[in-house]
Amino acid sequence: MSVSASASGVGAPGRARIPERTLRTDRWWLQPLLTVVGLMAFVVYATVRAATQSNYWVDDYRYLTPFASPCVSASCAPGSSHFGQLFGEFPPLIPLAILTLPFLLGFRLTCYYYRKAYYRSFWMSPPACAVSEPHARYTGETRFPLIIQNSHRYFFYAAVLISLINTYDAILAFHSPSGFGFGLGNVILVVNVLLLWAYTLGCHSCRHITAGRINHFSKHPVRYWAWQRVSWLNARHMQFAWVTLASLIITDAYVALVASGTTSDLRFVG
Ligand code: FES
Repeated sequence: MSVSASASGVGAPGRARIPERTLRTDRWWLQPLLTVVGLMAFVVYATVRAATQSNYWVDDYRYLTPFASPCVSASCAPGSSHFGQLFGEFPPLIPLAILTLPFLLGFRLTCYYYRKAYYRSFWMSPPACAVSEPHARYTGETRFPLIIQNSHRYFFYAAVLISLINTYDAILAFHSPSGFGFGLGNVILVVNVLLLWAYTLGCHSCRHITAGRINHFSKHPVRYWAWQRVSWLNARHMQFAWVTLASLIITDAYVALVASGTTSDLRFVG
């Protein structure tokens, strides 16, 4: 959008000269409100869990929550460091997955869908169609700090690596110290990983990587095939963005419940 709007909306180029902020009579504020509530709920949960660093690992079944993966410090519980302990003890409140969390945060913050969601709901820019925004000027993503949004493609590469780590964690959980087996925890870990892949591969950058800069699909059948799959995921990117927030919380909460002894894992085999 290149239109600037005054606080009242009166006189803004391209906008009807009316004193009201909007003539909409429906509940246009509901969607931005739900977005704020949903995102804040996840941020609060994730912050508390990442900072408290407890009940993130079930030694009996090798369940590791994605909130603590990869666990690479001497603070990690024995057995949970699938890639070794690269660092000494972390001070309190430093997340065990400090190596990957900034990239995951960057990936979500610069995601095209989340940008739309928080621009509308937190910055009210604009809060809804045909509702004027409170800002007097719109400068877009062409200058600091929003120009950083253009680094999204690099966060995508990091997210692919992190999804591979989560996949490795989920596979490893089928081999507990007593041998092969699986339970409800395995199902939850695997479903979460599949959903994370669906969100990650549905990224707009991934869509460009699969078929960008080619002129003839007929000359690139493999890339065309990949682009079709990625496009299917991309069309559902918003849904996967929300579902993965829920699946991350469910996975972490389940691991925490089993690890703390609040509940025992429902075992199917082993
Ligand atoms: S556009 Fe959403 S993850 Fe890339």
